[in-house]
Parts: sequence; C-alpha cells; structure tokens
Amino acid sequence: MWLKGRRALITGSSRGIGRGIAVKLAQEGVRVAVHYHKNEAAAKDTLERIRKHGADGLVVRADVSRPDDVRQMFAGVKREFGGLDIFVSNARPDLPAFYQAPMDITLDKWDMAFDSQAKAFFVGVREAAPLMGQGGRIIAITYAPSARTGSWQPWIAMGSAKAALESAVRYFAVALARRGITVNALSPGLTDDSVLNTLPKEVQDLSRAWHESGWTPMGRLTSPEDVGNAVALLSSEQAAWITGQVIAVDGGSSLMDTVFPLDIQRG
Ligand SMILES: NC(=O)c1ccc[n+]([C@@H]2O[C@H](COP(=O)([O-])OP(=O)(O)OC[C@H]3O[C@@H](n4cnc5c(N)ncnc54)[C@H](OP(=O)(O)O)[C@@H]3O)[C@@H](O)[C@H]2O)c1
Repeated sequence: MWLKGRRALITGSSRGIGRGIAVKLAQEGVRVAVHYHKNEAAAKDTLERIRKHGADGLVVRADVSRPDDVRQMFAGVKREFGGLDIFVSNARPDLPAFYQAPMDITLDKWDMAFDSQAKAFFVGVREAAPLMGQGGRIIAITYAPSARTGSWQPWIAMGSAKAALESAVRYFAVALARRGITVNALSPGLTDDSVLNTLPKEVQDLSRAWHESGWTPMGRLTSPEDVGNAVALLSSEQAAWITGQVIAVDGGSSLMDTVFPLDIQRG
C-alpha cells in the first residue's frame, strides 16, 4: 500500500529490464515517468501497459550521457509530478557504442560507457534528491560480475563504468542517509527480453541452455519481472534500513564459479 500514488522515474524503460520495472511499479499503483532515448514508440507502448494496470505516467526523452539532457528530463518530471519518490538509473547504450577490447577501444567509446553509467547516475542523483521528500528510493542497475571480477570479457569500458557506478552508490548512500533516502544497486543475471534478444539467435540459444544447465542454480534466465519485483521490494517501506548495497537478482548464478566443473558443483 505504501507504494500506491508514489512517483517514479525509470531511465531506459522503453524496453528490456526498464520496462519490466515500470510495469511492476505500475501494478503497485506507482505513477511512472517512462524514459527513452530514440525509441519513442516503444516508450509509448510501455506507458500503455502501465495504464492497463490502472496507473498513469508520462514519457520523457534524454540522452543520459549528456548532463544537460538529464537535467531537462528531471525538469519535465518536476513539472508533471511536482516531486519524485523513486529514481531508477537503468539505461545503457546499445553494445556497438562501447563494446571493444582493451587494446582496441577508442576513447569516445570508453567515455560513452562512463558518461552513460557513472556520470549519468552522478548527475541524476543530484537532480533527483532535491525532488524527494523524506524516505526516497534511488536504485542503480549494475552488472556486478563485470565490476568485480571482469566477467564478460572483453567489455572493459562497461565493466569499469559499472564499478564506478557501484562506488558512487555507496557515497550517495551516506550523503543522503539523514534524509531517509536509500541508495542501492541491483545486479540482474543474464536477462531474457533485454539486450540479449538483439544478439544472434545462436548466442541466445547457447546462453539460455547454459543457464538452464545449472550455471544459474534456479535453472532459467532472469526476467525483467524478476528485476521489477526486486525494485518494488527495495522501494517498499520495509526496505528503509537497506542502503549502500549491491544486491544480486540472478537466481544464484553469481554463486557459481569456474574453479570446479559444473557437474560437481550441483547440489
Ligand atoms: N540484459 C541483461 O542481461 C543485463 C544483465 C545485467 C545488468 N543489465 C543492466 O540492465 C540495464 C538494462 O539493460 P537491458 O538489456 O534491459 O537494456 P536494453 O533492452 O538494451 O534497453 C536499453 C534502454 O536504454 C535506453 N538507452 C540506450 N542508449 C541510451 C542513451 N544514450 N541515453 C538514454 N537512454 C539510452 C534505450 O532507449 P531506446 O529504446 O530509446 O533506445 C532502452 O530503453 C543496463 O544498465 C544493463 O547494464 C542487463
């Protein structure tokens, strides 16, 4: 009930994980600002889904790698909602914008990863916090294995940018603690209906089979709804004492490692 009537902005909610988060919050009665970069039709489709759940919202556009765009997006949200209770920083550029090996990657691709993750979050939180009353919720969507161990080689720029994003989460958690605003990161496992579905079918099939075989102990890919459920949990009144954390939403996949063959790791 606490979520009913709250106001959320979710970057990158035109599709993928962001859309799953938007729809879940709408089911809880939250009004949602659906953000997109280029795909306005997809954003409008998300808004339609939100309305089907009896909630409402609006569509906002920004290139999150550009601070002025981010500021204008928040100004639009303030005009429409009058304030904000939940900010989810989820947007991520498409792979060609940053996906290159350490010895090949160009500086503009490196900058795109950092500008769209650490800097977008940094600018976004400083715009979001003044709009929040006591007890707001700020959530960054990360990929902790890349930040921590360099998983998904050779994605050096995004792994490093996610590490910087997670670090920023901890600093802002302390900075905003006295206002009762929690700041956390969620780390999804490999997720269906997301960027994965833009990869060649063979890659999708191999990835699905890999996780079903046991590399995700719960035996399937993560879904956008799984991440939406976790956002709803962290946004609840009961989550008021959880801050500065990076929490996996992955059916246990981050518990598995390559030290032993899978066959002898299964329970
Ligand atoms: N997919 C996974 O398996 C997985 C796993 C772990 C973590 N994550 C994280 O989860 C988040 C969402 O991933 P996803 O795979 O669901 O994404 P996705 O389906 O590829 O969607 C990306 C979203 O970001 C928006 N976007 C792209 N470039 C942008 C820019 N320059 N400025 C603002 N918005 C931009 C897109 O808007 P348009 O539709 O307008 O282009 C879209 O809404 C990311 O932070 C990602 O790192 C994903």
